[in-house]
Amino acid sequence: MPKKIAVLTSGGDAPGMNAAIRSVVRCGIAKGWEVFGVKNGYQGLINGQIELMTTRHVGGILQRGGTILGSARCAEFETVEGRKKAIRNMNQLGIEALVVIGGNGSQSGNFALHQMGYPVVGIASTIDNDLVGSDITLGVDTALNIALEAIDRLKVTASSHQRAFILEVMGRKCGYIALMSGLAGGAEAITLPEIETDPEELAETIQQAYEHGKSHALIVAAEGATYNAAKLTEYFDKHKERLGFSMRSTILGHVQRGGAPGAYDRILASQFGWAAVETIEQKNYGVLVGQKGNVITHTPLADVVGKTKGIDPEVVRLARILD
Ligand code: F6P
Repeated sequence: MPKKIAVLTSGGDAPGMNAAIRSVVRCGIAKGWEVFGVKNGYQGLINGQIELMTTRHVGGILQRGGTILGSARCAEFETVEGRKKAIRNMNQLGIEALVVIGGNGSQSGNFALHQMGYPVVGIASTIDNDLVGSDITLGVDTALNIALEAIDRLKVTASSHQRAFILEVMGRKCGYIALMSGLAGGAEAITLPEIETDPEELAETIQQAYEHGKSHALIVAAEGATYNAAKLTEYFDKHKERLGFSMRSTILGHVQRGGAPGAYDRILASQFGWAAVETIEQKNYGVLVGQKGNVITHTPLADVVGKTKGIDPEVVRLARILD
């Protein structure tokens, strides 16, 4: 009897999810297994939306953003009854292990299945890069490049009008996208959920930029920062006469999630998918497949869930020196 496994995507979608699905399916089939795809994350698992995948199902998706399986936020899966129903559905099909591609919330659900004795493996996937257990997660590199392109474009028009701009990027609890895109884009200032901001200091930074002859000023704000786009705009509008400049703001939002994965995310996803299948074969369950120092890692989900990876203070220091 061939081994049977299933794969699902959960939580916010991320560029690279399809490449990871493709890798899990093709690597599993290469081992002579049957690989099932679960539609719409944990909701589909509960509803029994589970379909056998062939290698053709995952043809032509490597380069596509999003997830062909779909994803969903699922309140029912928060309940023990919902989780038991999900396990029953997999057992009825003879599925022996589950691969969950997703971020913090998704891996918490995955850990709950592990605690109920069901064999699971996680793949680190979120544009936030806020998962403990991996230096990098699927989707981050592509999302960063989307944010960077927006920064470069805004600087062009800001320079034409000697304007100050705010670009708000995603990242509720973790300011990784804001920090790294701000560093890469040469922002004059970056606001983060992790570090409180004094708007008056920000205003002085912008005034100094103009005094030093800069033709524009750009602030990158994380959506989860106290001073995100809305709060910053409110502050600067209130003080624009005194400060001598006005602000325009752009909120990048879900644009960062819809990108076609770049080379890095396609390669990382393919490696993660392979590692997840190998991990199942080795019966090393209840772990998150990630990467640390360019090496594929297997971190116990118990050490991952309920935590948010912080940002590197040395990078914050560098960004401040270079701004
Ligand atoms: O977790 C990834 C993420 O894109 C966050 O950066 C963002 O705050 C959140 O998902 C948005 O969630 P939703 O797509 O459910 O609005």
